Amino acid sequence: MPRQFFVGGNFKMNPISRGQKESIISVLNSADLDSTTEIVIAPPSLYLIPLKDTVRSELQVSAQNCYFKDSGAFTGEISPAQLVDAGIPYVILGHSERRTLFHETSEFVAQKTKAALNATLKVILCVGETLPERETGQTAVVVQKQLQAVVDVLQESDWGGVVIAYEPVWAIGTGKVATSAQAQEAHLDIRTFLSQAVSPAVAENTRIIYGGSVTAANCKELSTQPDVDGFLVGGASLKPEFVNIINARR
Ligand code: G3P
Repeated sequence: MPRQFFVGGNFKMNPISRGQKESIISVLNSADLDSTTEIVIAPPSLYLIPLKDTVRSELQVSAQNCYFKDSGAFTGEISPAQLVDAGIPYVILGHSERRTLFHETSEFVAQKTKAALNATLKVILCVGETLPERETGQTAVVVQKQLQAVVDVLQESDWGGVVIAYEPVWAIGTGKVATSAQAQEAHLDIRTFLSQAVSPAVAENTRIIYGGSVTAANCKELSTQPDVDGFLVGGASLKPEFVNIINARR
């Protein structure tokens, strides 16, 4: 079965007002969206429930992070169980901003991934190399190390709930998009790794999406690559052009 094209909008710590949020949603709610694309939007946690209640049914909502415990004295955190109870189906984990700014290790990301999957959340798992790592030829090694930590704690059956987002750090928010050849090479490396480290079936079925300065102008070419199964979009997901990205394969 072909892998379903997947487009996620990671709003990060935006928008800054409820009015802006409403205008983004009204664009999405009235747009002509490709019904074959799985669409997920990840607003700040403050907006998860109101968004879930106001977006059209084809759009799913995702948290941008969660902790690995169910409940307790963990100020500022949200648990997988709470997200499930609120009807939120997805969570983004391991984003480079969390790895870098909040010092999340690959082992911690893996622990949270396992907890989220156990709670029946689906996980958008982000991996990617920095510019110095790419320039010194370490892209595949770095990404495999990030993935290996997750491979170590998941069962083969868990992978059905995982979408991998390859997000080269140098392309995030910089306007420097990976070429379609660079994206394809990295995605194929990830698929080959999954085949060896988990199983050929998991490698074949897991969506590997690209994130990093995706726009309406560059999404079509990227989407033609055989191992690019969609996008995780930051800045452009806050603009009307997000609709064009959702419809990239049309
Ligand atoms: O998670 C999406 C992301 O990090 C890419 O951000 O703004 O480069 O599309 P942006």
